[in-house]
Amino acid sequence: MPKLYPIVKFPDPILTTPAAPVAEFDTPGLHALIDDMFASMYAAAGVGLAAPQIGLGQRLTVIDCSTGEDPAQKLVLINPVVTRRQGKQTGEEGCLSVPGFRADVTRAMAVTVRAQNARGEWFEAAGEELLARAIQHEVDHLNGILFLSHLSTLKRDLIKRKIRKLQQDGEW
Ligand code: NI
Repeated sequence: MPKLYPIVKFPDPILTTPAAPVAEFDTPGLHALIDDMFASMYAAAGVGLAAPQIGLGQRLTVIDCSTGEDPAQKLVLINPVVTRRQGKQTGEEGCLSVPGFRADVTRAMAVTVRAQNARGEWFEAAGEELLARAIQHEVDHLNGILFLSHLSTLKRDLIKRKIRKLQQDGEW
């Protein structure tokens, strides 16, 4: 049975701390962690989950824009670097660490990312539209950046105020 991790919520400082590179590959621990991250992401109905969101400051993220419907869409990115960005898209975005809040974010329409897999092999993946958005959102997480950082100050402060109110009411 996979382990389901609770998702760390804003404003936990691990979410705004750049994660450290993964150095050990092909270990039973890493393979289990990846399986558990997919399971935790599906349980939370997300399309992406980065290790800092489960309290681990490591440059590892899992993505599946099919939300578990199509195994071919499962993507594991370790130590990823976005090497190409093309075009622009603006669309509504949310984050499992900021539940209940969505906002328009402008990002590149297409990206290429270079990353390592669970065995430590480097590969390149390209994505457009939703997949490109997910890759950029998740790589941001590894750099300690939340989608809130891409909003106007006004919009960001409004969401932060609402979260503080939820915290005070014990609902966050
Ligand atoms: Ni997120």
